[in-house]
Amino acid sequence: MSRFTIPRDVYFGRGSLDTLKTIEGKKAIVVVGGSAMKKFGFLDKTVRYLKEAGLAVEIFEGVEPDPSVETVMRGAEAMRKFEPDWIVSIGGGSPIDAAKAMWAFYEYPETTFEQLITPFNFPKLRRKAGFIAIPSTSGTATEVTAFSVITDYSSGIKYPLADFNITPDIAIVDPDVADTMPKALTAFTGMDALTHAHEAFVSTLHSAFTNPLALQAIKSVFEQLQAAYNGDKNAREEMHYAQCLAGMAFSNALLGIVHSMAHKTGAAFSTGHIPHGEANAIYLPYVIQYNAKDAAAKSRYAQIARFIGVDGKDEDALIAALIGKIRKLNALFEIPATLKDFGIREAEFKEKLAAISANAVGDACTGSNPRSIDPAKMERLFGCIYYGRDVDF
Ligand SMILES: NC(=O)c1ccc[n+]([C@@H]2O[C@H](COP(=O)([O-])OP(=O)(O)OC[C@H]3O[C@@H](n4cnc5c(N)ncnc54)[C@H](O)[C@@H]3O)[C@@H](O)[C@H]2O)c1
Ligand SMILES: [Fe+2]
Repeated sequence: MSRFTIPRDVYFGRGSLDTLKTIEGKKAIVVVGGSAMKKFGFLDKTVRYLKEAGLAVEIFEGVEPDPSVETVMRGAEAMRKFEPDWIVSIGGGSPIDAAKAMWAFYEYPETTFEQLITPFNFPKLRRKAGFIAIPSTSGTATEVTAFSVITDYSSGIKYPLADFNITPDIAIVDPDVADTMPKALTAFTGMDALTHAHEAFVSTLHSAFTNPLALQAIKSVFEQLQAAYNGDKNAREEMHYAQCLAGMAFSNALLGIVHSMAHKTGAAFSTGHIPHGEANAIYLPYVIQYNAKDAAAKSRYAQIARFIGVDGKDEDALIAALIGKIRKLNALFEIPATLKDFGIREAEFKEKLAAISANAVGDACTGSNPRSIDPAKMERLFGCIYYGRDVDF
């Protein structure tokens, strides 16, 4: 038996934020990040609409990009004091992911972070609160997924928490909220969505329910992301929906080693944080080369290429053309082709290679990758990504 889980309600369209006026309940805590949602007036609107619905509202603000375990614990504490029956999170993947983890610790104060990082091991939620997610970036799709990514800064490791219990109850996919994204954020989050859809389509857990969502998401991203990057409002709207379709696919088919590698390198180098979507964009072409050495994965990548209308005389040519399209987008968005070009120092890369490779193999996303990998092969793969070599093993 397989399972396909998405939120009960997905409201979408420009202005759909005002569906908050119809929420029934007593108290809502609104979880937000830094200043973007406040600056552009969406935090005010969220609070106003919830109050119009008759709810008492408290705000928990200041969730940092790539949220920490400490922030999650502080938010859970605020929830235990306020006792909301709705958790409403508006912003990028960071505040929404943090709010999902806070939700678990709010409902189960006695649980530990170590217990939650075991995939699909969450206790039953919704005893105290329901969850509404309103994304302001077009990439993570956390508004429809069973994931929350939390960083343990003592080790520099990102942990994807995974359980269908944290799939939100309501997603509000309002493109107005994402229109204010600057260009680089549009590019990074869009490449994150493109990676989600590729990984979901080739995942060992892909299914009849996830395949069409993943394929359509890939097609839409290739058609819309460049125009969205250049500020076209219609393209931005289409991207906001495409990333959500990709989310429905990967939440149920899971991901692969692009994400394993991004999770374990995002906060690993002293050169500075590698934004999640940018890391994925750098790694994806190399991982396609690696995975395509597996015959079944190869034919699925070729299927993607055919679906988006790429020409090629055989599977190898189709896959080369697909990789070419991804690299073209990266170049357009000024995303470096290698980790060296990103600015990671060679000495530090070599020093940390064994540890990041072992950590990446151990990431929860590795299990559903279509081709298996061990730490030695992972080191070679990272070597290709650092120096810009084709993957020939
Ligand atoms: N839960 C999942 O399924 C899932 C999937 C992929 C990634 N992630 C995680 O999500 C996080 C990344 O999320 P993200 O890429 O959405 O970015 P983010 O939430 O970290 O936000 C990045 C920056 O963009 C700003 N910002 C957000 N929306 C804006 C807007 N509309 N206008 C202007 N500025 C805006 C924020 O204030 C912040 O400074 C990572 O931790 C990643 O690991 C989660
Ligand atoms: Fe992602």
